[in-house]
Amino acid sequence: STTTTTTDEKLLSICKLLETHVEYYNWVGFYFKNGDKNELKLGPYVGAPTDHTIIPFGKGICGQVAVSNENFVVPDVSAQDNYIACSITVKAEIVIPIFVNGENIGQIDIDSNTPDPFSEADERFLEFVCQKVATIL
Ligand code: SME
Repeated sequence: STTTTTTDEKLLSICKLLETHVEYYNWVGFYFKNGDKNELKLGPYVGAPTDHTIIPFGKGICGQVAVSNENFVVPDVSAQDNYIACSITVKAEIVIPIFVNGENIGQIDIDSNTPDPFSEADERFLEFVCQKVATIL
């Protein structure tokens, strides 16, 4: 017999792998453009449950990346004025957009409980992950 692995199961596996093997990745999840609406919808994630399952474009770090199409590295979330807090333990965040055929269709969002943990190596690594994710969507 055969078993099929759904896209969401694959994305959840990626979240688990990243959260497990990088000690300063403490919440790892995907947000995707919600149909033709100007908002993001939470996809597979690992870490503390969040109330922010829908994020309007422009709001928070994630919503800003939805419109800027650029990586957003936040070394200190307390210094951000357009930030949506999900957990009081979070000190830093990184969001990397996912492009399919040149279109920004979503992102990977990672929160850290460690201050200023993200380097350019994290950006390059997560860009690579996002390129691979794009091929399974
Ligand atoms: N902090 C994000 C919201 C999503 S939570 O990190 C899971 C933001 O400011 O967009």
